[in-house]
Amino acid sequence: MMTLKTKLTYSIIFVFGHVALAQNYEAKVDSLMKLMTLQEKIGQTVMYSGSWDQTGPIVGTDNAKYIREGNMGAMLNAFTVKGTYDLQKVAVEETRLGIPLLFGYDVIHGHRTIFPINLGMAASWDLKMIEESSRISAEEASAEGLHWTFSPMVDIARDPRWGRISEGSGEDVYLASQIAKAYVKGYQGDDLSKHNTILACAKHFVGYGAAQAGRDYHTVNMGEGELRNVYLPPFKAAVDAGVETFMSAFNELNGVPTSGNKFTLRDILQEEWGFKGFVVSDYTSINEMILHGFAKDSTDAARIGMNAGVDMDMMGSVYRKHLKELVEEGKVDEAIVNDACRRILLAKFKLGLFDDPYRYIDEKREAETKYKPEFLSKAREIAAASSVLLQNKNNVLPLSKETKSIAFIGPLVKDEYDILGNWAAKGDRKGKAVSVFEGVLEYLKPNQIMYAKGCDILKDDESGFSEAITISKKADVIVLVMGEGHHMSGEAASRTNLKIPGIQPKLIQKIREANPDKKIILVLMNGRPINLSDEVNLVDAILEVWFPGTMGGAATADILFGAYNPSGKLTVTFPRNVGQVPIYYNMKNTGRPIPDNNPTEDYKSNYIDSPNSPLFVFGHGLSYTTFKYADFTLSSHTLSFSDTLKASVVVSNTGGFDGYEVVQLYIHDKVGSVTRPVKELKGFQKIFLKKGESKTVTFILTAEDLKFYNSEMNYTVEHGEFEIAIAPSSDFKFKNSFILE
Ligand code: NOJ
Repeated sequence: MMTLKTKLTYSIIFVFGHVALAQNYEAKVDSLMKLMTLQEKIGQTVMYSGSWDQTGPIVGTDNAKYIREGNMGAMLNAFTVKGTYDLQKVAVEETRLGIPLLFGYDVIHGHRTIFPINLGMAASWDLKMIEESSRISAEEASAEGLHWTFSPMVDIARDPRWGRISEGSGEDVYLASQIAKAYVKGYQGDDLSKHNTILACAKHFVGYGAAQAGRDYHTVNMGEGELRNVYLPPFKAAVDAGVETFMSAFNELNGVPTSGNKFTLRDILQEEWGFKGFVVSDYTSINEMILHGFAKDSTDAARIGMNAGVDMDMMGSVYRKHLKELVEEGKVDEAIVNDACRRILLAKFKLGLFDDPYRYIDEKREAETKYKPEFLSKAREIAAASSVLLQNKNNVLPLSKETKSIAFIGPLVKDEYDILGNWAAKGDRKGKAVSVFEGVLEYLKPNQIMYAKGCDILKDDESGFSEAITISKKADVIVLVMGEGHHMSGEAASRTNLKIPGIQPKLIQKIREANPDKKIILVLMNGRPINLSDEVNLVDAILEVWFPGTMGGAATADILFGAYNPSGKLTVTFPRNVGQVPIYYNMKNTGRPIPDNNPTEDYKSNYIDSPNSPLFVFGHGLSYTTFKYADFTLSSHTLSFSDTLKASVVVSNTGGFDGYEVVQLYIHDKVGSVTRPVKELKGFQKIFLKKGESKTVTFILTAEDLKFYNSEMNYTVEHGEFEIAIAPSSDFKFKNSFILE
């Protein structure tokens, strides 16, 4: 927006001419802070929402007034060049010091171009692609005036009842940590002062994914060992990748709300990890400490939050209202407020906002950047790579383009709305998102297609069944496109029933009854592991496409017709029933594990009404081709603390299609001073093999890879035997081991 830019008076440059000469950002921040009043410093710690979007309970605020008074340092849910320009102008031109605002938004899996939900993208096991997705998100978001995304969500989640499982990378510590780094790198790029990079935010610190009974916002209790070994590592990985901000969570952790938790925020994040960025609360999470029963009133909540290390108050108003008085009364040390303000200003300096507060405001770039063709084709590629072929009996997939007639049935066939999933930022739905129906038109002529909606996702009106059954009988092949609505996962979307919702399962049953011998393919859109125990027997193939995003329908068609050979693998376990939850591959053994040859043996750790095993294991995902794993070799059967161990395997493509394979390395620490999981992922490689081709895949392990927190909370590695395997999924038995000397 050149015209706007030239109109500007960079008040800040005049006020702080000397600041511009400072050698580094810290010095610049210090110089600036010398000029600030306590109230102005507190103003930097306050964030309110604009009205472009609503991502929490409505709280009335008077944004322009607060900005003008210097009582607001950041905004969420305000973007577009025009919108941010108007607000930034108030901050820059109408406040005493002209400190620019920071604009943040939930750019979770895309801003305009929407990628698959994060759980889906994780299933690609493709770190480069995930980084590309967040790079594109940053391009689009920054072009609409945004400086900051509240992403990545790096919460480990092992409970599919919890709707927010869709926003993370699944159940595994190692994989989620690698993915956390990829997102951060993509958003922040290599230089934050570039106008197309944005601050990332690791959230929700910490333990949020372990909410009791999978109910959102619920209590979390866990030992420090589990916290350190499972829930903290992805956050640490984000810090290592240079993440600039953190978000504290809603949940309490062992009796202390995480937005008032000195142990996690000060002792671990700041002291142990040396985090230099700032922490924002979640939406009113500081105030919620009152209802948790941890703060007496909002003044007390402000005191606890600030003292604990929450630098910015999102929507709570408690810092704005109470911090000054708390400092004056000596209940909050001014040095703590200074530290919070310093961290926030530092981020603004790093973004270059003091050089040019309007650097993200450029109408031309805004118009040119959204939905660039290359973004859309990348979204299509990522959606294809994220889909997981769960079942493919008798290789019914891929379908031939010559099939005479295919019946497409289900509430999501023509959907252009739910397909984007939850937290789809400003992705346009109707008219922009490619439905499955539209996607298959690239492969089929209209006269090869029949369509019936059959039913809605949630309503129990069966009047559409008969049309669906009629067309199913006329077709050669039946493709069902069903699943959850986008609002059924994400925040505040916990479920106690993990079945495909509504009467969709009944329709599947009826269609199978009417077509006992026909090929039925189920394409599933959903934001969590679904209980498919009935469906695995009713349909031939199941393709899990999650909520695949803007290009989701095109990508789904690419897979259905074999233009893309599916390569995704699950990063969460799919249970047989809700009673098995939580269920995850890297569990502990117990003292009474079930014997292989007698899983129902009495007095063993089993159920009387269900197998222990899940329906689909972590790491599972089929391909149109087959892969053979052979010649596992270890460079040595011993490993010293200073040495490396090479493990390799020859993977061959033995089927009829070229394809990708995710090769996974697992270990098992057989005896520890604290017990260790039965399997732990320690590496993976996604390789491409042409049909008939073989490759040797090698992993290098060091003692560092075998470390864990022991009962004294020391990060350590212990001598002894480790089992090791390289496998296509977590469903295998160890046959090899080495000794850590
Ligand atoms: C609440 C959610 O928990 C968080 O993930 C999100 O970033 C904020 N609201 C802001 O919308």
